[in-house]
Amino acid sequence: MYIRGARTERSNRRDRKNKLAINVYSLLPTQRAFFESEARHPAYIGGYGSGKTHVACLKAIALAADNSPMPGVLVEPTSSNLRDIAIPMFQELLENEFNPSVPYKLLYSPYPNLTLFPKSRNPAHIWLRSGDKPESLKGLNLAWAGVDEVARIKQEIWGVLASRVRLADARKKQCFAVGTPEEYWLAEYWADDPQEGYELFQTSSYENTYLADEDLRSIRQSHSEEDLEWALGGKFVRGGKGRAYKAFTRATHHRAASPFDPQGRERLLPALPLCLLCDFNIDPCVWLVAQHRGGVIYVADEIVLRDTDTSEMIGAFMEKYGRWLGNTIVFGDAAGKTRTTTASKSDYELMRAAGQSGGKGPGERGKRPVEERRRDGQAVCSPGMQDVNGGL
Ligand SMILES: Nc1ncnc2c1ncn2[C@@H]1O[C@H](COP(=O)(O)OP(=O)(O)O)[C@@H](O)[C@H]1O
Ligand SMILES: [Mg+2]
Repeated sequence: MYIRGARTERSNRRDRKNKLAINVYSLLPTQRAFFESEARHPAYIGGYGSGKTHVACLKAIALAADNSPMPGVLVEPTSSNLRDIAIPMFQELLENEFNPSVPYKLLYSPYPNLTLFPKSRNPAHIWLRSGDKPESLKGLNLAWAGVDEVARIKQEIWGVLASRVRLADARKKQCFAVGTPEEYWLAEYWADDPQEGYELFQTSSYENTYLADEDLRSIRQSHSEEDLEWALGGKFVRGGKGRAYKAFTRATHHRAASPFDPQGRERLLPALPLCLLCDFNIDPCVWLVAQHRGGVIYVADEIVLRDTDTSEMIGAFMEKYGRWLGNTIVFGDAAGKTRTTTASKSDYELMRAAGQSGGKGPGERGKRPVEERRRDGQAVCSPGMQDVNGGL
């Protein structure tokens, strides 16, 4: 008897997955651990030639097959990386790494899309995108995603991608990354302060037994001793690229819970002077309110205003901390000494004048009250606390 909508032999066949015969024994030990990871955000971080693109493409193929026919994305930093590195690697793997080899079709519409098992009832999809075209990632709904050369894409792109992995019925939702350990945010996300689901697999180029000795030698010759730590060793660059404050490590210098009350001021010790740390920018301008207690600098509050000037910053500071007048030490950058086109006085002259006139600094422009700016959502005064042991 035929019942409409009932499961028949035929519809069952449609659900059948295509077989991907992958030999995990051909993977290097760290590659295999990464490949088999079930974490939501696994990362394979290693030096040049450590097998990052190889394992990223394999993981993309496996995730595409697991989630088929739901789509996923592999991101390279640029379109030329896609053309010259990712696509040839996919072709090489699909044709030679699987037994039997995996049939595929590559179409450009307008970005390259790879379809595995294109003639089957259950094709698997790998969309290839580049990080320098963020518009190509807009509005995607994905089962999985991956990034090659993650140190060369912007941190925001990682955030966008991770949030696009959201197809409710996906069988294996993962958003993975592979890359060199150059950028500080990678260390923060996967090593120093990993959130749930972030799992790190770190390796050195020496682990890749498939890499020829000459390749290792030429990498060694083209880098300084110091750079070889990350370029071959795969170690995070702690004091290096992408960091303004090299001594700062989140684990040591940041506390989620503040010893100050939500307003940031009550627990400041009245017996000690307030330290006002000023960076004379315009958009945004950030001043920190701190106290130096027994060799430790406690940052209690920050005053942040957008599109502002020194007079307005003085107003915002005085509104909250006026009673510290006469007991405040100002630390600022050297730029504060110079006159700007918007002010006939230097920033320090303005601050000195404010101190003498009880805080009513001579405004040079934009005298809009701070309260009004706050209502506009332009001002943020957020209490927070970091202890920065001599780091500022
Ligand atoms: N498990 C593996 N099996 C076979 N060849 C591998 C394996 N892992 C890496 N390779 C080869 O080693 C070389 C360097 O790997 P690649 O993934 O390009 O390194 P990276 O992206 O880290 O610079 C490539 O030729 C790649 O095919
Ligand atoms: Mg690579």
